[in-house]
Parts: sequence; structure tokens; C-alpha cells
Amino acid sequence: MFNIFKSKRKELSEDIDLSVLVTDIHSHFIPGIDDGSKSMEESIFLLKQMEEFGYKKVITTPHVYYNSFPEGIDILDQKVEELRRNAKFNGIKLQIEVGGEYLLDDDIKERIKNNQIKTFSDNYMLIEFPMTTEPMAYENWLFDLQLAGYNLVLAHPERFLYFYEDKKKYVSLKDRGILFQMNIGSLSGYYGPKVKEVAEYLIKENMIDLIGSDCHGQRHIDAMKSTLRSPLLKQLIDSGKLINNKL
Ligand SMILES: [Fe+2]
Repeated sequence: MFNIFKSKRKELSEDIDLSVLVTDIHSHFIPGIDDGSKSMEESIFLLKQMEEFGYKKVITTPHVYYNSFPEGIDILDQKVEELRRNAKFNGIKLQIEVGGEYLLDDDIKERIKNNQIKTFSDNYMLIEFPMTTEPMAYENWLFDLQLAGYNLVLAHPERFLYFYEDKKKYVSLKDRGILFQMNIGSLSGYYGPKVKEVAEYLIKENMIDLIGSDCHGQRHIDAMKSTLRSPLLKQLIDSGKLINNKL
């Protein structure tokens, strides 16, 4: 009983104001092109809630896998324009930009050579790794991308539990200048207790540079809402270390 009371008492008494972030840098709002929003109607519903959180801008980042978008990555410019038009028609004032969430694999050299990387803001590129298995060659891929001038942002490092098992790998990624973007919902336990534990660890180690919704659907909005009284989220936002508002 005492512990329940204690943990409740630790919660904040008011919701955290996400408007200070200004920009969300990770989401899947373009309908029908990945495992995110399935329809324009759903996208509008989700964007309205992002606006209610106080965001002024969203950078939406469709998954890019090997062989995605054979017609060329610039197709995303047309798709995002359609989303913007519909958002505006529905009274949404959010600025909507597009990037991509790149699952790194052996095709990355080809993508660099053919200019098939959709960046956002000042040449930022959102990258991810496979969820369950640490890729062998990832250090080479990072090297090639940084040599080509991309500012790398690693999506949800807290979800790659194989790095947590060997924590110096997080340090080594940070030493290479890779920015870390934590999913806000990770603090809610939405991705499981271990991911929550890693998110808390990375915050305490001052490793998080950006936070994101990684919104694919209503479930992620709900997970974000349930973090709005998290003292650790407040501590992270109040630290002044996050750079969301600069992108
Ligand atoms: Fe994502």
C-alpha cells in the first residue's frame, strides 16, 4: 500500500506542456505508404491531436526499407503536399515537413551515391536499426553517411535492447556525434518495461537530444498522453538539452 501511495505521490500534479518542444521529428502521418496512418481521415484526426499537444511543426518520417519507393524518394514531396492540402482544408495550422526513417542496411552506399536520402532541416537524417539483432556492419554504414555530410539522428535508441546489454555501445554512438531521439511513449511502458527502463537510463545519462511521437496511430497518442505527468519527462524537457525547437 505504502509503495503505491509513494509512486502516485511522485507523479506531477499538472500535465507537462509539450508546446515548448515546437517540433515533433518522428511520425508516420502520410497515409497508406507504411505501417502508419491508413487513411487521410486518420491522418487528420492524429494531426489535430498533435496540434492540441501544442506542436507547431511535424516532420513526418515514413519508413524507408530496402527497395522502398523504387520510383525515387522525391515521391514523398508529392505525398506530403497532399497531406498539407488536406490538413489546411481541415483547419490544421501545423507546418508539415517530410523526411524518412531509414532502416540501415547494405544498400546505404547506393542510396548516398544516387541521392536517395530524404533529409529534414539542416541535412538531418533519421535512422534506425533492426529491433532484435545488432547488425554487423553498422559502424561502416554510419561512417559512410557521416562522410557524406548527413547529421544522423538515431530513432528510439531505447528500443535496441542489444545496445543496453553492452552500454558502452551507446557511449560509442554518442562519441561519433550521433543524436539520440527517444520516443515519448517509451516512458509510459507502451513498448514494455525493459524499453521504459532503458529510456530512463538514457535520460539519466544525459544522452537524449530529441524526443518524438513516433506516431503511427491513436495508440501512440494515447501512450504520449499517459506520460504527461512523468517527472522524468519534465526533467528532460526542463534540462534545456533538447533541440526539437531548433529543427
Ligand atoms: Fe518510426
